[in-house]
Amino acid sequence: MIKILYGKCAHCASVNAADEITALLKSKPDAVLGLATGSSPIGMYKELIDRCAKGEISFKSVKSVNLDEYVGLSADHDQSYAYFMSHNLFDHVDIDKANTNLPNGLAADPAAECKRYDDVVASMGGVDIQVLGIGNNGHIGFNEPADYFTYGTNLVDLTDSTIDANSRFFASRDLVPTQAITMGIGQIMAAKKILLIALGKGKADILEKSLFGPVTPNVPASILRFFKGEVIVCADSEALSVIKEKHPEALA
Ligand code: F6R
Repeated sequence: MIKILYGKCAHCASVNAADEITALLKSKPDAVLGLATGSSPIGMYKELIDRCAKGEISFKSVKSVNLDEYVGLSADHDQSYAYFMSHNLFDHVDIDKANTNLPNGLAADPAAECKRYDDVVASMGGVDIQVLGIGNNGHIGFNEPADYFTYGTNLVDLTDSTIDANSRFFASRDLVPTQAITMGIGQIMAAKKILLIALGKGKADILEKSLFGPVTPNVPASILRFFKGEVIVCADSEALSVIKEKHPEALA
């Protein structure tokens, strides 16, 4: 079931997302969190840092698995997702870093690294909530539009549109890695709950297409319509603008 939580602004949508994580941590302090990087979850992470500082929530017993990592970037490279997670969440909350996991972008054998990460994800015994952003092309994790849905962790070639979108974080486009290791669609779909964050008008078309168009691997996020549990979409008014126009009943 898909539940859309309307946020008037990006901050409001981030607070809605933080409320979902807060409720989970209060009911299950040793929850397993599936985490995402990128600009979409930053506001939610800020809110969670704040709540942790106030003692409202704790990450002491939390375990986490991140969706993806660029191939070729070390954990201390300032554009690696390992670095992103440390700087945007882990260094500011009481999580035990030994309980946090990301694919290793420097693994000499990416196939072996995918297998290792499959085992890491399996060892969690189930992800309680999987946080997702959505790419301009509908990707979730780094599962790009394709002819089929993947199951497990896989090595992907990033599409030109993803490289273009992510080049905003790098000094130049040719510094953007061309490959990534990502959890597969099957692993994402195995989570108990999904929290999809979409902010800004750049996400409006793809969000509508994903939530209301045909379910197809050409729009990877569309698979969320077949999710067995609850998909909570925390989006701001700009990201929801096309849905509001075409499917106003969905926001009622
Ligand atoms: C990040 C990830 C990606 C992003 C997506 C949106 O871990 O898996 O799918 O969520 O590219 O990125 P932003 O949030 O920067 O628009």
